Formats: sequence, C-alpha cells, structure tokens
Amino acid sequence: MTPEPDDPFSIVGLDQPNAARIYDCLLGGGHSFAADRAAADQLVQAVPGARDAARANRAFLARAVRYAIGYDIIQFLDLGAGIPAAGSTHEVARRLTPHARVVYVDRDPVAVTCAEQLLDGDPYTGAVQSDLRDIHTVLADAVTTRLLDFTQPVAVLMVAVLHFVPGDAASITRTLADVLPPGSLLIISHSTAEPTELNDPTTQLVTSVYAGTPTPLCLRSRTQILDLFDGFALAGPGLVTVDQWRPETNTTDPPIPGFLAGVGHRERPPATVSAPRALSRARNAPHIKQPSRTTASHTPALANRL
Ligand SMILES: C[S@@+](CC[C@H](N)C(=O)[O-])C[C@H]1O[C@@H](n2cnc3c(N)ncnc32)[C@H](O)[C@@H]1O
Repeated sequence: MTPEPDDPFSIVGLDQPNAARIYDCLLGGGHSFAADRAAADQLVQAVPGARDAARANRAFLARAVRYAIGYDIIQFLDLGAGIPAAGSTHEVARRLTPHARVVYVDRDPVAVTCAEQLLDGDPYTGAVQSDLRDIHTVLADAVTTRLLDFTQPVAVLMVAVLHFVPGDAASITRTLADVLPPGSLLIISHSTAEPTELNDPTTQLVTSVYAGTPTPLCLRSRTQILDLFDGFALAGPGLVTVDQWRPETNTTDPPIPGFLAGVGHRERPPATVSAPRALSRARNAPHIKQPSRTTASHTPALANRL
C-alpha cells in the first residue's frame, strides 16, 4: 500500500511498524507498509510458524463467532480488532445472521481508517478509534451505543490483543463482567511464552520486534491468562491453544504453540453496585431498529454442533 499525498494514512508515522499491519501482513492482507513487512519478515525468521499461528488465531475467531451465534448472540464488540479484512467478525457473523451488529475498536488510526472504508454504508457495523484500556470510554462511545444494546447479550472479542496491554488487564475484563448482561460471552486469545521461558532466545527475538512498535509485547503465563476470565465461566475445552479450541475438523496435527484461547460465559447476576456510567448511557441511547434474532431453523443445528 503506497500512501498518496491526500491519503489519510500519510498523517501517521508509517516508518514505524505497527501490530495491526504486521498482523495483516502475516495473514497475507494488503494493508501494510515497508516497515511492517520488514517486521513481519523478522518475526517469520524468528518463528517459522508465525504465519500459521496468525491464521490459526483468525480461524479461532471465526469459530468463536459461530459459537456465539449458536447461543443466539448477534451483537459483537471487537476490541483490538485490527484491520477487518477477509475473515473478520462481521463477515463470519453475516454468513449466519444477516443483521449481526459489530463494533470494531482499535487504537491504531490506520486500522480504524481501513475499517471505516471497508464498512462504508453498512448500517450494522461501526469503527471506534479508542484505547481498550479506557473501557468506559469505549462503552460510552456514540458508535457503540448506537449499535449495541447492553440489555441484550453481547460477545466481546479480545483476540490477539491483550498481550499488547501491559499491567492489570484483568481489571478491564472484570469491568466487562460487571457491565455485560448474563448470556454475554468473553472471547480471548492471548500470546504466551509457555512452555518455554521469557528469556528463551526466540521469545526475546519476537519481543524485540514488537519493542519497535507503539505496542510492545507483554506476554502472560497460563495462570495470568486464566485470571482474565474472572467473572466468566469458561466453556469447554477451557483454555487451550487456538487450534485446539473446538476444532471443526478432525486433526492429528500437533498443537500450534504461542496463543492460548478460551471463551467465557457471563453467568453472574448483574452487579448490585451502581452500574458504570457507560451502561446507563447505553441503556438510554436511542437504538436502530432491533434486527430479527437468529432464525430458529439454523440455531438448533448450530447449537447441536457446539
Ligand atoms: C494482532 S492484531 C489482532 C487483530 C484481531 N483482533 C485479530 O485477531 O484478527 C492486535 C490489534 O490490537 C490493537 N491494539 C493493541 N493495543 C490496543 C489497545 N490498548 N487498545 C485498542 N487496540 C489495541 C493493535 O493496534 C492491533 O490492531
């Protein structure tokens, strides 16, 4: 992608690689610049299976979206969505339910600009440029409250993003547990160094590639990733490598290391403490016409496969 003089992309620093575009490059997309491609090449040199891991992560996202629709969920909040090119949340959801609503959130202006261009004219999707660490701002955003009804279950995706979020990421997911109504889902995949150590040479190489981006890598242990599901009940098979989360075809291939994934059901009763400002705003917001729910004809069939 070469920015033209009036191109919105010319306003951002394109000589610095960026996680959204590195990932797009690993997936074979066309929304990257020279610095991103160089960083992706470095990653593949360090981890020859990096492209497979990115594809396996994307495939997990698709299975998790279908799983959500199997529970009649048609609202998706995709945090750290990246560039919603082929195989993204709204594409997967739309194949099963045409009026699925999706809000894409990313802190990267290029990812959000690409999303706005790709989604132009689609009344059921929107893009928000925001940092997910400020989750109340994300929930209160005008695009979020126009498209999502927080009195109905919502599937929140945090796929391949929280390893770019240092510090107490569990406080963000705990806030979501308080805000989301029962029946909602939390969908997470997260990079981990386990079973190797953080000082493993390959891990250090990967970490050094992302150190040159606005979002350095923050790997977590299996236990720390499990903590992110506090307030949610993990669906079977629990926290496993992305390729092992409810695969839809039989495979004897060895697990693809690097990413752990899980889906949590929000089952706790609603918080009795005062609900966050964002939730009350979401409840009071005028909403576009409620789309029809997933058709009964395909829901049981899907649910039977889950
Ligand atoms: C590896 S991409 C994952 C894209 C997508 N979720 C997927 O799995 O296909 C990670 C994305 O998270 C975004 N990101 C990183 N930190 C973020 C933050 N604090 N808030 C919002 N987005 C963030 C990056 O800009 C990037 O687009």
